[in-house]
Amino acid sequence: PSLEKDFLPLYYGWFLSKRSSENLRKTGQAFLDELASVKVFKKEANKHFGQATEDPKVKIDLTSYFVKRPPSVLHCTTKFTDFGKAPGADDYAQQEVVKSSYGKAFFLTITALFITPRTVGARVELNEQQILLWPGDVDVLQPAVNLPKGSRAHVTLGCASGIEAVQTGLDLLEYVKLEKTGNKGEEVGEIGGGKLLSFGNGMWMLVLSKKIEVRAIFSGYYG
Ligand code: A2P
Repeated sequence: PSLEKDFLPLYYGWFLSKRSSENLRKTGQAFLDELASVKVFKKEANKHFGQATEDPKVKIDLTSYFVKRPPSVLHCTTKFTDFGKAPGADDYAQQEVVKSSYGKAFFLTITALFITPRTVGARVELNEQQILLWPGDVDVLQPAVNLPKGSRAHVTLGCASGIEAVQTGLDLLEYVKLEKTGNKGEEVGEIGGGKLLSFGNGMWMLVLSKKIEVRAIFSGYYG
């Protein structure tokens, strides 16, 4: 048992298949490209994305804004265990459901794509079986805002310069907090793939008209 502690991964999560990763990356890319050409977005972009352009001829490049992208296959973190050092790491790792699901295949459902001035990500909707693998202590926004279990589930697609990946989940919790307080976002219109919502402060969400299913293996990442 003392050995097990030493060999906990950096984090547990669902790791998308190569093919699902490629497809989701492409979908995210198409979202950024299309968003960058939306008039109301362009108007605001200089304020939040540091790209001055009231000029309709100037193209905003969100791809180079979100310069840090996950290097290999995409994933949805369940528990960041930090090799056993993170709070709750052992409790999580020792759960029967975590052990028995290790190496098993799942289908995750992507319901939306979102950006903030810090991150771009995909929102994941967990089913009942998947919720069992979700930790009890991560859907929290400081100070003391508790959100429904699984609220934070996401796939990081990119981060702005100087931003760490951990921010994507916190940004998604920000959206969920707004939704909870009755701000469901302002409908801007339909763009490719779904309905575009603006939440202010550089927060934009594309609610997919057709949810995306991705194939993923539950496992640990050791770095
Ligand atoms: P995310 O799950 O949003 O992508 P890093 O590359 O910074 O070492 O992080 C490795 C992975 O673990 C990333 O996917 C990252 O965010 C996630 N992560 C990093 N730190 C934390 C944390 N403190 N809490 C939850 N997830 C984290």
